[in-house]
Amino acid sequence: MLKGRNFIEPTNFSLEELDEVMNLAAAIKSNPEDYLDVCKGKLLATLFYEPSTRTRFSFEAAMLRLGGSVIGFSEPGSSSVAKGESLRDTIRTVGSYSDIIVMRHPKEGAPNFAQEFTYVPLINAGDGGHQHPTQTLTDLFTIRESKGRLDNLTIGLCGDLKFGRTVHSLIKAMSKHTAIRFILISPPELQVPTYFKATVLDGNNLEYEEYVKLEDVIPELDILYMTRVQKERFFNEADYVRLKDSYVLDANKLKLAKEDLAVLHPLPRVTEIANEVDDDPRAWYFRQVKNGMFVRMALIMKLLGVERNA
Ligand code: CP
Repeated sequence: MLKGRNFIEPTNFSLEELDEVMNLAAAIKSNPEDYLDVCKGKLLATLFYEPSTRTRFSFEAAMLRLGGSVIGFSEPGSSSVAKGESLRDTIRTVGSYSDIIVMRHPKEGAPNFAQEFTYVPLINAGDGGHQHPTQTLTDLFTIRESKGRLDNLTIGLCGDLKFGRTVHSLIKAMSKHTAIRFILISPPELQVPTYFKATVLDGNNLEYEEYVKLEDVIPELDILYMTRVQKERFFNEADYVRLKDSYVLDANKLKLAKEDLAVLHPLPRVTEIANEVDDDPRAWYFRQVKNGMFVRMALIMKLLGVERNA
């Protein structure tokens, strides 16, 4: 039963519950006209303490396409946060007006804290370098759509594996599936954090290998999950400048890959995927963007406990 629950990290839901959301997302994607008014009279609040294009717009589009309404801020400076109002009071206040809250916050753990004070379901739309569970749902849905399965896969994750919250969320979610081999490709400075390796990768006896060069492993991959170097999380500009162009996936590198490789990216991209790759049938990232809206439509419906019109 997902009605009334919060979604703070992917492992809050069992595999069966994640499947339930993805199955509904697939049904909505096939027949969106069947879901036009299911959230009529319901209100979604979006609290974005950090910038966003896809997550905020896809949540807002999702609620509007379900017939509901949206309030919120994309810039906390335009709210009473600028006067020093606490997260606790903001959540209590917004929960008094809305039926469901989506929040992005720069501080790791902020949604765990906020969920103590909400009267309505709370969805984490990304907290610092920690988790981004609705991106993960989108990624799982897109992997399932592109490969027809979520097990028996070799998954390459490439780029900023230290600060990339989508990477941490995806590894956690995929660790529940069988016969997954993770290939972690990053400069030594941007490897998966030590705590994450110890608790999630080693802690669950997951199969993983670390590489520095993408070319050395791209032929083996079923999925290549590219990520940008997260400028906003660096402590020093010189390190960012040195590392920002560590990887560029282009047509030449793709020649080394399998014919049925699926290239995913949570976006935004900077330079890590050349524009020429966009027209390659193996480029799934813009289909992934659109899937994000269907997945969020399904999640809103499940957490609000609304059903398709008869
Ligand atoms: N993938 C993602 O979270 O994109 P935005 O930062 O644009 O929301």
